[in-house]
Amino acid sequence: MYHLAWFQGCGLPPWDHNIDGPFVGNVAREWATGENFSDLARALERGCFTFLLMEDTTQVDDHFGGTAEVALKRGFFSPKHDPFPMSLKMAMATKHIGFAPTISSSFYHPWAAARLLTTLDHLTAGRIGMNVVTSTQHNAAKNFGMDALPPKEVRYEVANEWCEVFRQLEDAWEEDALLIDYDTGYYADYRKVHTIDFKGKYYSSRGPLNHIPGPQRHVPMVEAGNSPAGRDLAAHYADALIGNCLTIAEMKELIADMETRVMGHRRNPDDFKVMFLCEPVVAETDDEAKRRHEKIMKARSEPPNIEWMRFYLDLVVPSIDFAKIDLEMTVAEFKKLTTDPQMVSIVDKIFRVPDETTFREVLATRGPMLDLGLIGSPETVARKMDEIMEEVGGGGFLFNAPAGRRAVVEICDGLCPALQRRGSIRTGYEHKTFRENLLAY
Ligand SMILES: Cc1cc2nc3c(=O)[nH]c(=O)nc-3n(C[C@H](O)[C@H](O)[C@H](O)COP(=O)(O)O)c2cc1C
Repeated sequence: MYHLAWFQGCGLPPWDHNIDGPFVGNVAREWATGENFSDLARALERGCFTFLLMEDTTQVDDHFGGTAEVALKRGFFSPKHDPFPMSLKMAMATKHIGFAPTISSSFYHPWAAARLLTTLDHLTAGRIGMNVVTSTQHNAAKNFGMDALPPKEVRYEVANEWCEVFRQLEDAWEEDALLIDYDTGYYADYRKVHTIDFKGKYYSSRGPLNHIPGPQRHVPMVEAGNSPAGRDLAAHYADALIGNCLTIAEMKELIADMETRVMGHRRNPDDFKVMFLCEPVVAETDDEAKRRHEKIMKARSEPPNIEWMRFYLDLVVPSIDFAKIDLEMTVAEFKKLTTDPQMVSIVDKIFRVPDETTFREVLATRGPMLDLGLIGSPETVARKMDEIMEEVGGGGFLFNAPAGRRAVVEICDGLCPALQRRGSIRTGYEHKTFRENLLAY
């Protein structure tokens, strides 16, 4: 058995009938109530997803072309909800599924983060986790009083320290610190609640938290950076890594590497999951799914998608203004424009094409998310997913959110039951907490 997780932004969903198709509903007017996200969480719970990973960024983008026009015209990455209250709302609408809202170690002080997540751990009865990122946008950094983000290697150093403070704060109350003794009138034993007196290069914190440990004590952590520094951060502190892999060989390499790294941090590899990012195309029949996939591929060369891809690259590679890049430039010429290490990791896969390929061709044929060949009827996709897991031995898949509620139903009420019939995913939740459910198999 393996796990399913869902990747979802908490903002304006795809909303334009002209671009996103006829099944977007009225989300553009209604999304801010959050009810569509509660519906989503309920559907995912019906499909027995282990958790929902909630994307986050903290700016209205005006780096792309030097104006916020595209961001606000299309609703790219803003407006959006803060994922923390959003996760609470979704938890209130469900009973079992876990939530991993994104938090940036570059912007949030670990004490405030540990307090927030401990509170949410209590309020969700142990169903909260977190996706720790280091962020990529300089303009977001300016919202938090910084002039710019530090280089990536420094951001990962900061993230390691952030996780260390966070974990120490979670442990500042000993297991038996809570007395709740009505006879003596002692709520807690002050001798068992400690300061942490952490003084690092980037953060210092005295501690303890002014809150009792949550049901999970340690909030489960997911991480999605696949560079060596990202992998090592995950191996040290996280419970799951999201692998962004193009091939079976890459998946195997990632799993083997993570096993070595996890053991290097004196942890048991069985307590760590590697899950793979993918964007399946599920329809009633294989032919229908194939047609839909062809339509998706055709739409990639249309202006709205070219605009989206340029915007996306601009967001994750801030050293280049992608609005200005000549679409007829070759990949060889393009690669000379930057030595930004961000290129090497997240975007590298998009540009792994012959040097003479034009920028336009790249944007029209490749995207940040991969279908991994998962195209077909529920039965076909379920079989293909099984084949991948059998070959690589991973912990499961993270589905990038397909557009619209119809696709949610196709997955939760079509694909998930097909996977359950094959015995590939759970048919119910065995445990109460996110961590227990994640580590159940
Ligand atoms: C599935 C997935 C989800 C991510 N979610 C976010 C996010 O919500 N916010 C963010 O700033 N970065 C996000 N990232 C970016 C990663 O956290 C990481 O910064 C990026 O992959 C670059 O790090 P790397 O070079 O170690 O791969 C995500 C990446 C992936 C693959």
